[in-house]
Amino acid sequence: MRTLIIHIKTLLQVREPGIDKVSGTAMAELPYLEEAYLLVENDIILDYGLMRDCPVLEDALIIDAQQGTLLPSWIDSHTHLVYAGNRVQEFVDRINGLSYAEIAQRGGGILNSAARLNAMEEEQLYRESAVRLEEIIRQGTGAVEIKSGYGLTVEGELKMLRVIQRLRENYPMTIKATFLGAHALPHVYKDNREGYLQLIEALIPQIAEEKLADYLDVFCETDYFTVAETERLMAMGNHYGLQPKIHVNQFTAIGGIAAAVRHNALSVDHLELVTEEDLAALQGAVTMPVALPSCSYFISIPYTPARQMLQAGLPLALASDFNPGTSPSGNMNFVVATACIKMKMTPEEAINAATINAAYAMGISATHGSITRGKKANFILTQPNIHYHELPYAFGSNRIAKVFLNGALIP
Ligand code: NIG
Ligand code: FE
Repeated sequence: MRTLIIHIKTLLQVREPGIDKVSGTAMAELPYLEEAYLLVENDIILDYGLMRDCPVLEDALIIDAQQGTLLPSWIDSHTHLVYAGNRVQEFVDRINGLSYAEIAQRGGGILNSAARLNAMEEEQLYRESAVRLEEIIRQGTGAVEIKSGYGLTVEGELKMLRVIQRLRENYPMTIKATFLGAHALPHVYKDNREGYLQLIEALIPQIAEEKLADYLDVFCETDYFTVAETERLMAMGNHYGLQPKIHVNQFTAIGGIAAAVRHNALSVDHLELVTEEDLAALQGAVTMPVALPSCSYFISIPYTPARQMLQAGLPLALASDFNPGTSPSGNMNFVVATACIKMKMTPEEAINAATINAAYAMGISATHGSITRGKKANFILTQPNIHYHELPYAFGSNRIAKVFLNGALIP
């Protein structure tokens, strides 16, 4: 089946094959064609070019973009969208003056979500998660990574990973699963850290064997997991084919970034705090730094110092961190707008960060993240006559007219 999209005002993120990420100053450039067409066969981009060279195809479905801008779908490389219920009471408690750390110390935070998740039937968890997935699809996300980490028991973690697998089977979307057993220390292991680490270590081979996860994550942070513990789990993850993607430098800088780089992590995520040593460790690394501006916004913590990182020549990706505690939104349009408004990224840099670099951060840049012949036909079409600068400018408004996944229009 062929689809020809015509009269595109601007076709964004047009790249030759082989570019898997863009760094530093190169992120300022967003390659595009004006007055363009795009040709899709089944779920794959076949060709694109200038409107004046548009082929005449009788058997193709023709979609008039009405001078809208067409860009590759957002890629969300960091979410926790499988969760039970919400944490709206903690939201109100924070407004009334409690900090995220104080709430966690009272048994709230991640342990609150873990209690709710363990009490919920798998079917109900699937239904709640599917609603969130459908919402982000409508908002233009074309591929998503989802973490476990609200089970913190063998059964709870496996339940989450099974739900992610079911979402993957039932939705036309590329989904990667990450095992985040080391998200917080459960109460029952308060005096037995070693016991909990061993529980996670025992799960890694099983999860790898049953292909329940693609990646391994650890919350490397003061009061959560130490750098040494993180290194131990990353080594085991690598041994079983679960490449690390690490939560690090959210509240404190304790050397986790250099450790993650040493263990070949695919990404290091959060980075609200970044030291000179962290910047040096990331130079030339395979590891993609990932910023999560919705989290900074929602719990009022610093934003990742994007300008400093780009100036140092580093690449940067953006993700939503969709989760009940620090970012109860998976809207990548908001993420891109907030990166522009609060992190002073240009629209070009933010779009690169939320597409091609984000695809790299979830290991799919060979097939996703740009308008490239042979890549997946996943796109966002804006309303008529929209310049792409208007996407972040009109923050909080929806400028998306149509979303395509695997070459098909999402109803
Ligand atoms: O990425 N920082 C660790 N984990 C999540 C939030 C966890 C929660 O509060 O539920 C995050 O922000
Ligand atoms: Fe997170």
